Amino acid sequence: MSENRAPSPREQWGSSTGFVLATIGSAVGIGNIWRFSYVAGENGGGAFLIVYGFSVLLVGLPIVIGEMALGRRGAADAVAAFARDMPRSPWRYAGWVAVLGCVLILSFYAVVAGWSLKYFTGAVSGALWKAASEGYGGYYREFIADPLAPVGWLFAMLALTVIIVAGGIRRGIEVANRILMPLLALSIVVLAIYSATLPGSAKGWEFLFLPDWNAVLKGRVIVAAIGQAFFSLGIGMAVFITYSAYIAPGTRIPRAAATIAIGDTLFAVVAGLAIFPAVFAFGMNPAAGPELAFITLPQIFLAMPYGRIAGIMFFGLLTAAALTSMMSLLEVPVASVLHRSRLGRRLAAILTGCVAFVLGIPSALSFGLLSGVRITGSSVFDFVNHGVSNYLLPLGGILVCVYAGWVLSRTEIMSASGLSGTAAGVTWYWLLRLVAPVMILLVVLDTVGAL
Ligand code: PFF
Repeated sequence: MSENRAPSPREQWGSSTGFVLATIGSAVGIGNIWRFSYVAGENGGGAFLIVYGFSVLLVGLPIVIGEMALGRRGAADAVAAFARDMPRSPWRYAGWVAVLGCVLILSFYAVVAGWSLKYFTGAVSGALWKAASEGYGGYYREFIADPLAPVGWLFAMLALTVIIVAGGIRRGIEVANRILMPLLALSIVVLAIYSATLPGSAKGWEFLFLPDWNAVLKGRVIVAAIGQAFFSLGIGMAVFITYSAYIAPGTRIPRAAATIAIGDTLFAVVAGLAIFPAVFAFGMNPAAGPELAFITLPQIFLAMPYGRIAGIMFFGLLTAAALTSMMSLLEVPVASVLHRSRLGRRLAAILTGCVAFVLGIPSALSFGLLSGVRITGSSVFDFVNHGVSNYLLPLGGILVCVYAGWVLSRTEIMSASGLSGTAAGVTWYWLLRLVAPVMILLVVLDTVGAL
């Protein structure tokens, strides 16, 4: 099981830029728009932003660099990155945790991506705007409770992802990111500028930038910030390991990692600037939770001038951002299947996509047909979502810290990271070795109620 069959010729990104765009594409997703806005809304806005910045810097960035270094030296897939040095050691399971984790994330993530695609097509065709008469609360709840529709949209998003990933690293994933990422950046900036012109929008800026100091040091905010940083950067699931295996020579890991951390955070903040000023301008509740994007925002779009165009842009953006993240989530298992079987990329992508689809069906139906099914008190969707975010991503993160920081020699990991002999390298090494794992452990202990 652990032998590697490197596909030949080895695939590679066309350039460093292609690699960075694809990794930013993975990081920027529903998490930056849908999840960030409601987590920030529930945790005091500006206060959350400060703690979030520190979480990205002290915990997120060191792990991104660690994953990239592991990927470059493993030069194959998630499993090989942990098993290269000791093929028979239990460390090979660390890679499998990530591979399975990605399929699980994909299964519920694609459900929300499917909702977003449905809203996007509805905004384009006009059906979404006609639904105003029944109210968006009812519209949304009726849709997610339907026994068929959410499964169909889940399928559509997964099929799109499979087609792109089947196209390969350079001709599929890189090309898609080169097209979609600049469009995403442009449309979120346009939406933020537009949002700032609405009367009463200043309150949204205040909400996002003026911290409530009492909230900053609350444990709850710190836990939420670290959890959000994990999800938003997409660490712990071997995405950076896998993408770095295809890295072009001459790519500088520290610079690439910093670009991703900054890009991902900026994107979330600008998305906040697109959403909150509009929410305040229309006197809506910024802490509406996960329903903010699907109930509150359509109401706002309908009420504002040129709102239908803004709505098309917003849901198009949300769908495209989800798609670029789904590509990385699919590529991790696909790379492992490719390296461990005789299957070609196309078949590997189709098969993995089918597994994610089957696993996704219970999540897609968990607001309707399966709403009575409860696992430890939660719906299937919430169970998978919370299980992954609260346990699997942190577990994957800790495994990276321990393997890169404690199992491999310092010289080895330093040279793979490209930080050897620098002060930044020493700082990084200790953040990865100590600070990040301790912080993650505290968060997990807090989540299970042990603190
Ligand atoms: N970072 C993505 C987002 O913010 O939506 C989600 C994600 C991608 C999570 C890849 C985990 C992952 F491995």
